[in-house]
Amino acid sequence: MTRIDLLLEEMTLQEKIGQMTMSAAGFAVTGPVLAGDATEDIRAGLVGSLLNIYGAEPTHRIQRVALEQSRLGIPLFFGFDIIHGHRTIFPIPLAEAATFQPDLWERTAREAAIEAAQDGVHLTFAPMLDVTRDPRWGRMAEGPGEDPFLASVYAAAKVRGFQGSDLATTDHIAATAKHFVAYGAPTGGIDYMSADISDRSLHEVYLPPFETAVGSGVAAIMPAFHDIAGIPMTANEPLLKNWLRRHLGFSGVLISDYNAVAELIEHGVAGDVVEAAILALRAGIDIEMISTIYRRGLPEALDRALIGLEEIDASVRRILRLKEALGLFDAPFGRGGAIDAESEHAADRRRLARDVATRSIVLLSNNGLLPLSDPRRVAVVGPLANERVEMRGSWPAAGDPRDPVTLFEGLSSALPQADVVHAAGVSIEDGDWSRVDGALDICRSADVIVLCVGEAALMSGEAASRASLDLPGRQKEFAEAVLALGKPVVAVLSSGRPLTVSWLIDRAHATLATWFLGNEAGNALGDIVTGRASPSGRLPVSWPRSLGQVPIYYAQRPSGRPATQPGRYASKYIDLPTTPLFPFGYGLSYGRFVYSDLTIGNARVGRNGNIEIMVSVANEGDATAEETVFLFIRDVVASVARPRMELKGFSKIELPPGGRGILALVLPVSALQFPGRDFNPVLEPGAFEVLVGPCADRQKLVSANVTVSDDPVQGRGP
Ligand code: GLC
Repeated sequence: MTRIDLLLEEMTLQEKIGQMTMSAAGFAVTGPVLAGDATEDIRAGLVGSLLNIYGAEPTHRIQRVALEQSRLGIPLFFGFDIIHGHRTIFPIPLAEAATFQPDLWERTAREAAIEAAQDGVHLTFAPMLDVTRDPRWGRMAEGPGEDPFLASVYAAAKVRGFQGSDLATTDHIAATAKHFVAYGAPTGGIDYMSADISDRSLHEVYLPPFETAVGSGVAAIMPAFHDIAGIPMTANEPLLKNWLRRHLGFSGVLISDYNAVAELIEHGVAGDVVEAAILALRAGIDIEMISTIYRRGLPEALDRALIGLEEIDASVRRILRLKEALGLFDAPFGRGGAIDAESEHAADRRRLARDVATRSIVLLSNNGLLPLSDPRRVAVVGPLANERVEMRGSWPAAGDPRDPVTLFEGLSSALPQADVVHAAGVSIEDGDWSRVDGALDICRSADVIVLCVGEAALMSGEAASRASLDLPGRQKEFAEAVLALGKPVVAVLSSGRPLTVSWLIDRAHATLATWFLGNEAGNALGDIVTGRASPSGRLPVSWPRSLGQVPIYYAQRPSGRPATQPGRYASKYIDLPTTPLFPFGYGLSYGRFVYSDLTIGNARVGRNGNIEIMVSVANEGDATAEETVFLFIRDVVASVARPRMELKGFSKIELPPGGRGILALVLPVSALQFPGRDFNPVLEPGAFEVLVGPCADRQKLVSANVTVSDDPVQGRGP
C-alpha cells in the first residue's frame, strides 16, 4: 500500500472533496467571485489548495494550519498566475514570442520559477498556449501568437523552464498548460464567448501546443471558460477525457478555471449544483477553482448513485500524486525561503529581463532615422512616455509597480549627452487637451521626437476585448499635432495586440512595436534607439491594415479563386488589399539581409528521411544585425486542402556588414504529417514546396521543390 493508498482509505468523502476544492487568498483578485478567508475550511479539511497567495511567511503560516490543525494533515499546494515573471517582470508573452528564441523562453520561465519558489509558490497557471488570430481578443497579449508550430515550441520551452526535470527540487514549480482549448477563437473576439470552429481547425491549430505540453510532462492543464459547439470546456468529456486522457495519456491534474464549474449553470447545460458537479466530474475536472459545486453537489450525486466513489477517488489520487511529486509530503516547507533580490544571480536576472525586452522590440518602419546619431535635444512625449506601472502589461504577478524603467527614463540614461525632456500631452484614454500645448512646445525645440502612444496595460489581457484596434482616447489627434510640426518622429507603440495605425506608420520616420516590455522597458528601448542593439524582434502575429480583415493569419487554405486571379471573381476585398500591413515574422533590423542559393540536398526523399536544406544569407547593410530565418512548407496536393504555407522551423543568424553565412536546416519528412480526413496523422507522398526567408510573405521567400516518395530512394537515410 502506498502513502496515497493509505490516505485514500483514511479519508472521509468530505475530505476527498476538500482536496478537489481550491480556494483563494487575497494577494490578487483574478475573477468575479471572491472566496473569503479559507482558514476554517482548511482546518476542516474542506480545501486542498489555494491560489493567489505568495510570500514565505503567509504560505508557511497557512500550511501549518493544514499540517497541524486538520485531521489528516495533508499539505496544501499554492498556485499563482506567474505568466511573464514573478517579481522580475519580463515582457508579456506576445512580446517574448517575438524573440523567436526558445532558449530565452525557457530561461525566463526558469527565473520566474526560482523567484516564485522563494515566495512559497508551488504551481503557476502558465504557460498560456492559446493560439489566436483575432487581436480584438485581449488575451492575445498572454500567448505566443497565431501559429501552432511557434506555440508548440513555446510550450515545450516553458514547461521545461518552470518544471525542470524534477518537480521535487524546491526551485522549480509545476506548470499548467491553459486554456484548453481554442479559447483564442471566441465569437466576435469577445472573451469567454463560444468558439464555433471546425474539427479541422481544432486538430491543426488549437490542439497541437497542448499535445506538445503533455509530451513535455506538464503537471496540470486548465480547461477554458468557453464552449466549443455548445459544450463548455469544463464539461467537455470528449476533449478532456477522451482526447487528453485516453488519446494523449495525460495523467496530470485538471484544474478548472476561476468559478468555471459553477458557470456551467450560466452556460445552460446544468440545472443545479448536482448536475454541474456531475458534468465536471464526468469530464475529469480534478480541482474546482473558487466555487464549491463539488462540495455541495457531489454527496447528493453519490447518494443518488448518479456517480461512483471511484470517480472521486481517481481525481483525489491525481491531486495527491501532484503533491507528492512536488515533495510536499516530505518537505511541506521546502519552498518559501529568502528572496535573492540583492544577489549576483538577481543581477543576472535583470540583465536577462533587459536582453529579452530588447529582443522583443519589432522595428516596423525606418526611413533611416534609427539608430539615432547623437541628437542634442530629444522630446519624449505621449501618454506612455513616462508610465511605470503600464510597462508591466497584464498579469504582473508579484512585480513591484515601482520597478519598471519608464521609456523616458531609459532614453535619458541611454542618451546622456542629449537633453532629453518629457511631456505626456494627453492621457491614454480621457479627452483632456489642456497639456497638449506644453507638449508641443518641447517638441518644437527638439531635434527628434519620440512619440509614445498605445494602450493601457489592462486594455489587453483577460476580459479586455476591444471592438477597435485604434489608439484610445485623443491620442490620434495628439499624434497628428506632433507630426504636423514636421520634425523627425520615432513612434513607439505600447500594446497587447497589433493596432491599426497605418496613418501613423506612414508619417513617422520610424515605428517600433514594443508591446509591454516589463521591468526593463525603458532600457530596452534605449538599446534599440541608440543602436546599442539592432532590432531583432519579429511579429508572432499578422498585423492588420484594418479591423475588417480580422481574423487574419498567414496559414490560410487556398481559395478556388485566389486573390491573385485577374478580374472581379477572386478572393479579395473590393476596398482593401487582402494582405496584412505586416506579415507574420516581419521585422526590420539595422542590417539588410539577402537570401540566395536555396538548395535541397535530396530532391526525392523517403517517408523516413530528412529534407536537407541549405540557404545563403548575406548582410548587405552597414550594421551588424541578426536575422530570423523562417522555414515554411506547402503541401501542393493532399487529401484535404492544406494551408498556403505552414511554419516548420526558424533559426537565427547574426552577420556583420558584408557578412555571409550558409544556414543548414534539416526537416524530418515526418514533420510533413497533418491530420487526415479522420484527424489521425497522415503523411502523403507527393510534391512539397520548401520556402525559406524573413517572414510569411511569399514574395520575400526563396523556394525549392522536394518530392516525398514511397519508392526506394537513393541517398541518405534517416
Ligand atoms: C482567471 C484566468 C486564468 C487564471 C485563473 C486564476 O480567470 O482565466 O487564466 O489562471 O483565473 O487566476
